[in-house]
Amino acid sequence: MTPSKNPVGIDAIAFAGPQCYLDMRDLAAARKIDPDKFTKGLGQEQMAVATPCEDTVTLAAKAAQATLKNFDIDPSEIGTLIVGTETGVDHAKPVAVYVHEILGLPSNCRTFETKHACFGGMAGVGTSADWIASGRARGRKALIIASDIARYGIGTAGEPTQGAGAVALVIGQNPRLMNLHLNCIGDYTRQVMDFWRPLYSKYAFADGHYSIQCYLDALEGALADAKSQVDDPHTLNTDSMEACFYHVPFVKMALKAHRRHVELQHDVMNDKALNESYAQRVAPWLTLNATVGNIYTGSIFLALIDFLRRLDPSSEGKNTSFFAYGSGCGASYSAGQVADNAAAWRHLVDPAAQLAARRRLTVEEYERLMHEDEHADDNEATHSDPTRWQLDGDLFYLGTHNHQRVYGGMPKAHMKRAG
Ligand code: HMG
Repeated sequence: MTPSKNPVGIDAIAFAGPQCYLDMRDLAAARKIDPDKFTKGLGQEQMAVATPCEDTVTLAAKAAQATLKNFDIDPSEIGTLIVGTETGVDHAKPVAVYVHEILGLPSNCRTFETKHACFGGMAGVGTSADWIASGRARGRKALIIASDIARYGIGTAGEPTQGAGAVALVIGQNPRLMNLHLNCIGDYTRQVMDFWRPLYSKYAFADGHYSIQCYLDALEGALADAKSQVDDPHTLNTDSMEACFYHVPFVKMALKAHRRHVELQHDVMNDKALNESYAQRVAPWLTLNATVGNIYTGSIFLALIDFLRRLDPSSEGKNTSFFAYGSGCGASYSAGQVADNAAAWRHLVDPAAQLAARRRLTVEEYERLMHEDEHADDNEATHSDPTRWQLDGDLFYLGTHNHQRVYGGMPKAHMKRAG
């Protein structure tokens, strides 16, 4: 993989999550399950829980605001806005157009939503990188936001793998953080019923163990396609990578994925080598996934943020791999290269303070919130009160009026129209 002279890649990134979380030990106690199953068996410590006032729009907008502000990018520089989500707020109107208004983006910005389960965010990154590489961007950048609220329901096998949050990325030329190798992207698609959410359901349905198998098959297929595009397939081996990023529905899944990745390049599996490779290239960047949970489209980028916030200058110029998976299923295997001087920006991407400020919910509060949310969209006039959940800030979903969603903290013009 030869770096391009005018590389396209990730210029800025930020995470925004809900203000409350549930501790996995509290959940295990309430479900009468050994807590080690959640913490060691799945690898999860906490999961972010969105209150009724925090939806896919507010999470997306907060992540995007932080990205533009922290990296000093003016809204006028954005020519494409894509929100990848599988938990949108309307059957027709995209989350992206609310975000477009909140950020004050230019009217000649192409704005839309992508859906393919957890693959929607990476699909947006690939599409926008091609747009920039083609020259059609005319110097402008793309803003991609992966925003979701993952819910399986109380007492289900998927319950400990819930989560919520958004990651916003700016894709541009000569990026500050990560160059993307656009000449090597492996794709994989196959119709499978491993995880889905019917139109009538707030909760996802999953054939959990089958979904793990589908994920691993997709990794094999996408990697094979990527290898067919490079002169030397060994350049995509795990040992050629400084870090390997996977879609992380729960932390243990990244270990299963890395095992398969290593298996595919060696005839004989060596447990010691696998463990060392995992400890060096994957595990260090899974601490945010363990404390936020599955954020669907954004999960792979949460691992990337964890890597970037602790980036050592010695990693600059080195390659990384990305395996993005969306149930149903669609996947891609691609590679990046840490940009020169990327470590200089690491302090801008760290969400540690935001996570430390979260409020720990009791299981009773969490269950009440889940029951309320289950029926929140049954009727036209619902109203959410941020003070009830002790939330800070001013950008909240407040309910519907005249069949329109109402947000606190939106520009005045929108509030007038909605009210
Ligand atoms: P489960 O059947 O309740 O759990 O559901 P299990 O019995 O398989 O146990 C899980 C692990 O804990 C196992 O480890 C156990 O051995 C271990 P493994 O064998 O896998 O290494 N364990 C313990 N460890 C220590 N102490 C103990 C103990 N007990 C058990 N006492 C499942 C697990 C993941 C299936 C479930 O949570 C689920 O259905 N989750 C949702 C589906 C999912 O996350 N699938 C992942 C692949 S598909 C995907 O990633 C796409 C997705 O993000 C959606 C999208 O694309 O939009 C989901």
